[in-house]
Amino acid sequence: MKYLCTYCSVYVYDEDSGDSVTNLKPGTSWDDIPDTWGCPVCGMPKEYLQQIRDDVFAIKMEAYKGQGGTSDLNYYRSVGRKMLTGVCGVFPVCDGKPGRTCVGQKYGAPIGMGGAGQGKTFEANYDALQRYKLKMQVIKAHHEPEMSLSIFGKEIKAPVMGASLSGVKSSMNDAISEDAFYRGLLRGARAFGSIGMVGNTPTSPDDLGIKVIGESGGWGIPMLKPQSQERLIQLIRLAEDMNVIAIGIDLEGAGSTFWAASDKMVYRKSESELQELVDCTEKPVIFKGIMTPEDANKVVDSGANVCYVSNHGGRVLDGGQGVAEALPDIAKEISGKVQIMADGAVRTGFDVLKIIALGADIALIGRTLAQVAIGGGEVAVNMYFKYVKEDLRRAMILTGCDTLEDAAKSILTR
Ligand SMILES: Cc1cc2nc3c(=O)[nH]c(=O)nc-3n(C[C@H](O)[C@H](O)[C@H](O)COP(=O)(O)O)c2cc1C
Repeated sequence: MKYLCTYCSVYVYDEDSGDSVTNLKPGTSWDDIPDTWGCPVCGMPKEYLQQIRDDVFAIKMEAYKGQGGTSDLNYYRSVGRKMLTGVCGVFPVCDGKPGRTCVGQKYGAPIGMGGAGQGKTFEANYDALQRYKLKMQVIKAHHEPEMSLSIFGKEIKAPVMGASLSGVKSSMNDAISEDAFYRGLLRGARAFGSIGMVGNTPTSPDDLGIKVIGESGGWGIPMLKPQSQERLIQLIRLAEDMNVIAIGIDLEGAGSTFWAASDKMVYRKSESELQELVDCTEKPVIFKGIMTPEDANKVVDSGANVCYVSNHGGRVLDGGQGVAEALPDIAKEISGKVQIMADGAVRTGFDVLKIIALGADIALIGRTLAQVAIGGGEVAVNMYFKYVKEDLRRAMILTGCDTLEDAAKSILTR
């Protein structure tokens, strides 16, 4: 049988071949691996080896051999492309355009990596952001851009975080285990100097993300589905025990097709319910799925710390507005009252600068981070953050921004 280390999501073991690196003779079964054995990539014990399919093993083995200084982001994207065959083409531009592998009406079948319905909201996110152009202004004394900022009392290296993601089984070909996926997202973000988020999927226990965050001392944010208040408060208690950095609820998850299909109830939440969730914990609270100034004001009134502008990457409501269309009016209304996060077709450091200029404090990345987390776990996620930061630096230099506060609507045109 063949195994993948679910901690690093990189090391693979084949019982037939054994492993010369860790002195396991050919034919050594999982049961016979000594308890003192440690994964040669991440050091974790054999409990972290999980059985994988032969096709996934073949791709992962190739990726494992490619480790060691020569692998770049494109390499991990190519591994991700193989592992996501049929659900995501890992195209050079992830834009939700017609003709992409992920896009199009699925007539009730799982939407994979695409958008709900005809995928028009996913596409609107891309179009709305790209409609804004950055204005180049280069005659100014040089200043190295200051990109770091503080959120929840933690310093992060750049105004970019990993969006809450989940659902390897339903959306990502069941390519790796859900916990291994979460580890890649969380550890990769941390290794870079940011914070990762994990989502909630009905095919895994709803406390899995919180527990995986707990493994690394709480460095991460669980984004909980809007289940019953009673269940949410239980999960919040567990999240407190795991010392998570903050707790999020994706209010737009009330429209999750996966939860609906699995008979697990998710609900719209009233203002008093938001208030109850904020009041029940000392942890910072994020409400995600805000697309209008009216809802944004309600988030502010609830006492939450963050208003997260998002339409779930167009995965819940088709025919909706792009985030970059909605964000400026929301920022005008609530800027300075709470911190603002926003996601939706953010792919590069140039996109991050646009989102900040439109009024967010932090931009978050979904699909393209999922692609590399599947392809190369922590290592690849860390690389992706570095790639984004490098382009953000360049974009700030070329638009005359010395600090993130300089990134205002004046650096944009349409
Ligand atoms: C495969 C997939 C799974 C997702 N799972 C969740 C989830 O469990 N919880 C959540 O709040 N958002 C989830 N999202 C939405 C993201 O957090 C984010 O809002 C969206 O991906 C941003 O758009 P982008 O993918 O175009 O960057 C998911 C998105 C994708 C593509």
